[in-house]
Amino acid sequence: MSNSVLDNPDRYGAVSRSLHWGMAVLFLIQFCSAAAHWGLPRENALREMLWGYHTDVGLTLFLLVFLRGAWGLANMSRRPTHPGALGRAAMAGHLAIYALMIIVPSVRVLAAAGGTRGLSFWGIEVLQPRGQEVTWMQIPAEWHGEMGWLLAALILGHAGIALFWHGSIKRDGTLQRMVG
Ligand code: HEM
Ligand code: HEM
Repeated sequence: MSNSVLDNPDRYGAVSRSLHWGMAVLFLIQFCSAAAHWGLPRENALREMLWGYHTDVGLTLFLLVFLRGAWGLANMSRRPTHPGALGRAAMAGHLAIYALMIIVPSVRVLAAAGGTRGLSFWGIEVLQPRGQEVTWMQIPAEWHGEMGWLLAALILGHAGIALFWHGSIKRDGTLQRMVG
């Protein structure tokens, strides 16, 4: 495979970049639906339209994060490195984003697996409804929204650091590894 497909030390490859930016667009839609759910009245048409996609887009992101993680691990030895204390902080930040990208949808899937309404993914039933709700399976989902907003805050911080710190102040080429 050519070097532009795989990651290399100067640049993330086409697969990593497609996953990064494709998921960024989907996360934007996901947080718009969450914001509409939080901030708009029930009868609002925009809220209903956006909220109608929350589960499908959320589950799509849930699948994509595993592909992205597997591709990242397979390319670990080729990827740009993060030396020094600030580099370790950057890696810890990326790891926290990964952790929340997995935990946030997981708790809702768990609740659906123990719930009375089942779960559909783009119209296909993937979990059947139960006759009776399993109480403990609902508990972690109580923090789904809060953890989702925490993820949004981390992503905003991440984009801010990438654009302003690396892009405008230090101009160290970090942004270029993922852009283009
Ligand atoms: C990475 C994926 C996801 C993110 C970032 C996310 C984010 C959020 C956020 C921020 C809220 C709070 C909205 C509010 O304050 O009103 C929320 C609510 C909700 N989400 Fe998600 N979500 C994701 C995936 C899912 C999935 C896969 C499901 C269903 C299987 C789901 C079901 C719900 C439900 C039912 C609510 C309303 C009740 C609650 O806040 O727990 N979400 N989501
Ligand atoms: C305007 C928005 C964004 C910008 C400018 C941006 C920029 C970047 C850049 C330049 C890198 C490479 C950093 C390095 O090599 O150290 C990167 C990596 C990364 N970004 Fe973003 N990003 C944005 C949005 C997002 C979003 C929405 C997410 C989460 C869903 C995200 C998650 C990550 C993660 C986890 C990495 C580590 C590499 C990987 O495993 O994919 N970014 N980003």
